[in-house]
Amino acid sequence: MEPKKKGLDGSKEPVFNTTKIKRGNVLICVIKMKGQGSRISGFYKLSIKERVAFVKDFASLTEEETNLLHQALNLPTADRFIENVVGTYQLPLGITVNFLIDGRDYLIPMAIEESSVVAAASNAAKLARIKGGFKAEATEPLMIGQVQVKDLKSIEEAKKNLLSRKKEVINLANEQDPFLVKLGGGAKDLEVREIETDRGAMLIVHLLVDVRDAMGANAVNTMAEAVTSLIERITGGKVGLRILSNLADHRLATSRAVFDKEAIGGEEVVDAILDAYEFAKADPYRATTHNKGIMNGIDPVVIATGNDFRAVESGAHSYAAKDGRYKPLTRWWKDREGNLQGEIKLPLALGTVGGLTRLHPCARLCLKILGVRSSKELAKVAASVGLAQNFAAMRALATEGIQKGHMKLHAKNIAMMAGAKGELLDKIAEKMVQKGKVNIELAKELLKEFEK
Ligand code: MEV
Repeated sequence: MEPKKKGLDGSKEPVFNTTKIKRGNVLICVIKMKGQGSRISGFYKLSIKERVAFVKDFASLTEEETNLLHQALNLPTADRFIENVVGTYQLPLGITVNFLIDGRDYLIPMAIEESSVVAAASNAAKLARIKGGFKAEATEPLMIGQVQVKDLKSIEEAKKNLLSRKKEVINLANEQDPFLVKLGGGAKDLEVREIETDRGAMLIVHLLVDVRDAMGANAVNTMAEAVTSLIERITGGKVGLRILSNLADHRLATSRAVFDKEAIGGEEVVDAILDAYEFAKADPYRATTHNKGIMNGIDPVVIATGNDFRAVESGAHSYAAKDGRYKPLTRWWKDREGNLQGEIKLPLALGTVGGLTRLHPCARLCLKILGVRSSKELAKVAASVGLAQNFAAMRALATEGIQKGHMKLHAKNIAMMAGAKGELLDKIAEKMVQKGKVNIELAKELLKEFEK
């Protein structure tokens, strides 16, 4: 294979080799990285076909799998997932490049409708690579199943009895899922909490379940329901709700990265980012938007892999308020050399098996592209994308603002709405950005002018 392309960013180094294969009337361009893993310059400048060929090669996808990238979920499958199906709804699927996490290269599929997110994450990941990329950790995948116990004569007595017979409860829970137990998971512990409510005190039992590579809702809910009678017998109370908690604070993912001071714009930029972070730390109005930016990175990975984004969202925001006030999910500081360091920590209940992860063909494919071997690894990847996204947003906000980047794609969408196609689309969008004015009337006017 002959190296044909130079770095698309204008660098002298060839970034990848390409081979062109002709199949009937279709010319397929196969691109191979030159030992750089996910680090690629100018990925966005490739055609969709070239990008697909690159991903196919990177993740060793079959022809059939590759075709799934642009195929809608078929209706009979959709009809099995939810009720009253009348169609399917699609989102763009982008590939975020440049991620190096714990020394491993990842191409990260992101399903999202918002422009700039994929580009921002890729750019942040490129900058993080300078100092070794992301270093991530994840706790064991322990989920909480809650059992509400009411009408107790003595909460203290009920607590004592439950704790002394917790082995019995755990064993009964584990009888519901021998397969999970065989994999090393299952109910591991039991905690009791007392809560005061307007309808009196209640005892809340937490069943801690190691769900291994599943998100775990089914396993946990089944176990929580199965221990009802036993808990009622032990406590003498009445069991109410039995359901998992989305505040999965025993299932946390952490990721850290160092951003080289010079590479990100110097001391001034580091300080401006730290000021932005302090703003979020001190003000819940800002912290909410700060965390929204983080979820801009995490949700698309959660969606692309067929996971439950509502579960992840609710868990993240609840964790952000765990100290009684809503705070940022990231921390940022300056190291001794003046570089910017960041850390993210949040609950991430993500599965690589179960739910839609294997049933939705595109989710299955995205998991293959990611090449993650466990739910813990997926959580580390998602946390790293969240950190990258937060860095990118703060850097943009603290320097030139975010509108400049957003405007380019927004202008293209407006030009498209005005009826522009092909080359005219870019020309009209560019003209509107130059003028600092993006609206449909101007796009129509420009279209008329260009078509003259
Ligand atoms: C926009 O989707 C996300 C940001 O508002 C995040 C932030 O403000 O940090 C740019």
